[in-house]
Amino acid sequence: MSKKSKVHILILGSGGREHALGFKLKQSKRCGKLYFAPGNGGTAALGTNLPDLPFDPVNTKHADAIDYFCRHNNISLVVIGPEDPLCGGLVDRLAAPDRHVFGPVQTGARLEADKVFSKQLMRATSVPTADSKTFTDYEAAVNYVENRETPVVVKAAGLAKGKGVIVCSTNEQALDALKLCMVDLAFGEAGQTVIVEERLGGQEVSILALVDGRNIFVLDPTQDHKPVGEEDTGPNTGGMGAYCPTPLVDDALMTTIEREVLVPIVDAMRRDGTEFKGVLYAGLMLTAGGPKVLEFNTRFGDPECQPLMMRLKGDLIDIMIATCQGTLGEVNLSWIPRCCCCVVMASGGYPGKYETGKPITGIEDAEADPDVKVFHAGTKLTNGGTLVTAGGRVLSICAMGDDLKQAQQKANAACEKIHFDGAFYRTDIGFRVM
Ligand code: AMP
Ligand code: GLY
Repeated sequence: MSKKSKVHILILGSGGREHALGFKLKQSKRCGKLYFAPGNGGTAALGTNLPDLPFDPVNTKHADAIDYFCRHNNISLVVIGPEDPLCGGLVDRLAAPDRHVFGPVQTGARLEADKVFSKQLMRATSVPTADSKTFTDYEAAVNYVENRETPVVVKAAGLAKGKGVIVCSTNEQALDALKLCMVDLAFGEAGQTVIVEERLGGQEVSILALVDGRNIFVLDPTQDHKPVGEEDTGPNTGGMGAYCPTPLVDDALMTTIEREVLVPIVDAMRRDGTEFKGVLYAGLMLTAGGPKVLEFNTRFGDPECQPLMMRLKGDLIDIMIATCQGTLGEVNLSWIPRCCCCVVMASGGYPGKYETGKPITGIEDAEADPDVKVFHAGTKLTNGGTLVTAGGRVLSICAMGDDLKQAQQKANAACEKIHFDGAFYRTDIGFRVM
């Protein structure tokens, strides 16, 4: 593929993350046809949505059909947004000459898929993380928890759609959590093995890095807001908002995180035969004793991706291809020196039960401010062309500002202009540093 030829792209996924990646890829002069499978109501305006494929485009079981689609549409860059297909090995299955597939191979995605493996690797490489013990035997886990005097976190070892982590304040809660995972099998197989770890205190940050197998380019630090309610109250969600950059991580701390967390993991993977390529995302707690890893993800975070794409300078096609090719050192990558605040508008009831099919209005009005961009997540266009809600997290409203306060104000003002039945959002994204 010459540097001049157009790159036809397939983005797999349907969230705000995938819309933001498409928005940024589309800005490249090299962007040819852009497909989203399945996509959402917003991605349809950037490229071609493929909502009605006779197979599931984010399921590794259907890799042959996805490969066939790519061959027949001359796709030379496939971007995989969500974790399930990465952990299932879709990158391995789609490998082909003349095609770049952005994301780690299955043995790399294991860092996210298997928390026991991830803990073992951290221990082996002295990466700072919470003390923990792994259990496959329920009685043994109960016995361990009953004899502990400090609070714990109970984690299902496998993938549980972001729900398999239960932060406990008392031993009773921890015992309930063990029962939920190991006896009731609330997270299926993912919870048959659990990790019980010390509960850490401090500020949480998300550090995402592009990794090309060897080179690491750390992206500006972000902070996600997982609890559903203002001031981090209520149950955890996929993320109710994020901002970038966060002042919680200065250059010195960033260097420490790169040296003590990212480099050892990437090097250890390579030694063990895996060239990790794609995004390595460390969820960190900034404790009094320094940063400690809560989890690794092997993809862009949602909503962290949205403010990152708003601030990223440079050609994302070049950046992604360089990541796949191992030439990350050769690309230009820098940041717009402003702050971005991203506020998620959700359906009433989320993260519990919610209704869908509610008409959405006001997006154009919100985007009248050139600092505002609305990314879609749970939206779709009806046959009649009406934009309606189709999920729990509906929209990610991003606003740029000269500082976090201005960015937050602009994002909140934009949210006020957007309406759908039952809509709600947090007005305090960034409060922990304001
Ligand atoms: P995870 O999916 O592992 O990032 O966990 C989800 C959320 O649970 C994190 O964002 C934290 O808020 C919380 N959490 C996870 N592990 C711990 C821990 N060891 N101590 C305190 N909170 C934790
Ligand atoms: N925002 C957290 C995640 O994507 O896992």
